[in-house]
Amino acid sequence: MRKVRFVEPIKVYRMIKEELDSAYFDVMSKGELIDRSHLRSFEENLANYVGTKYAVGLNSGYDALHMSLRAAGIGSGDEVIVPAHTFVATCSAVVIVNATPVLVDVAKDFNIDVDKIEAAVTPRTKAIIAVHLSGYMADMPRIMRIAEKHDLVVIEDACQSLGSNIDGKMAGSIGLTGCWSFYPFKILGGYGDGGAITTNDPEVAIFARRMRFNGEDRETGEYHGHGFTCLLDNLQAAFLDVKLRHLPAWIERRKAIAEMYRQGLSDLPDLLLPHYDKPGFDHVYQNYTLRANQGDEFSEYLKKNGIEVLTQFRKPYYRHEALKLVDRGFPETEAISREVCSLPMNVEISVEEIEYVIQTTRAFYGR
Ligand SMILES: Cc1ncc(COP(=O)(O)O)c(C=O)c1O
Repeated sequence: MRKVRFVEPIKVYRMIKEELDSAYFDVMSKGELIDRSHLRSFEENLANYVGTKYAVGLNSGYDALHMSLRAAGIGSGDEVIVPAHTFVATCSAVVIVNATPVLVDVAKDFNIDVDKIEAAVTPRTKAIIAVHLSGYMADMPRIMRIAEKHDLVVIEDACQSLGSNIDGKMAGSIGLTGCWSFYPFKILGGYGDGGAITTNDPEVAIFARRMRFNGEDRETGEYHGHGFTCLLDNLQAAFLDVKLRHLPAWIERRKAIAEMYRQGLSDLPDLLLPHYDKPGFDHVYQNYTLRANQGDEFSEYLKKNGIEVLTQFRKPYYRHEALKLVDRGFPETEAISREVCSLPMNVEISVEEIEYVIQTTRAFYGR
């Protein structure tokens, strides 16, 4: 049976082998491992790409999130608004700084429902984490207006949306920080865990630079607080720097694949495809996440026919008892959890594979 993988890192390696190998040999031959020139170079290129003054390389997207909250002085007694539909790390970062996450339902585009934010604001609310899911940004202009009205910090969880923008304003350049994940299967993925913060605030950049290195100012040796060991490895930065050069072309490829899916599937009434018509909002398709009325029956059919799909998340994170979160009723998140299905979306997929996914999907609906 034909097999279509969700991602195929070996194919990407073959595509840019020479560049990756040369980055590897450069790091190895110089013996530069921690906090060295490749990290500096990647941070500069990332900041330029996102359009911020600073980028600080960290161990993961999760580190970027909790470091941002700490930099904003958020802690015990504070509330932070987070979407009910996101990767659990968005919420865990709030809990780990001893603040209280207040969950808000999402809208049809999988991002926080801006109309429901103000009802969740209390005198203890200090911040909103705006998550840009799957490559499509939350409505930042409206979120920033609400934040200004209530004097709230906005942190962008842009882990899934590098390169996305609203009217040219890049994800990760609008809030206090943009938080990035370079987990291998992200739109810019490393060869292990990785992350970063982008920001225009020099204090936040200095805070993160120190705290990622156990609180130490590397020039003076002074400890400025109890910190963490969570800086992006120099070797990962060298690989990411190579891949960042390809990102604009790879985003175009993702958009072309999304267009093929749209043309092949948009007449099927039981599917809700991820194409929206908000003017100025770009979609970079980190994921091609659709909703199918038939839920598991649909995703299992694709799997049985050799197509790897993701169904994140069949169980919303707030329903996991050990997390002790408050379920205030999130109807859209509940519906998404039953219907969600992400089709293979990556730069290494072939046209024949995309056509096979389309044909198999149509066959499920007898078309
Ligand atoms: C929306 C979102 N937030 C946070 C994270 C956490 O990133 P990481 O896995 O690098 O810690 C991820 C990625 O896994 C994510 O998709």
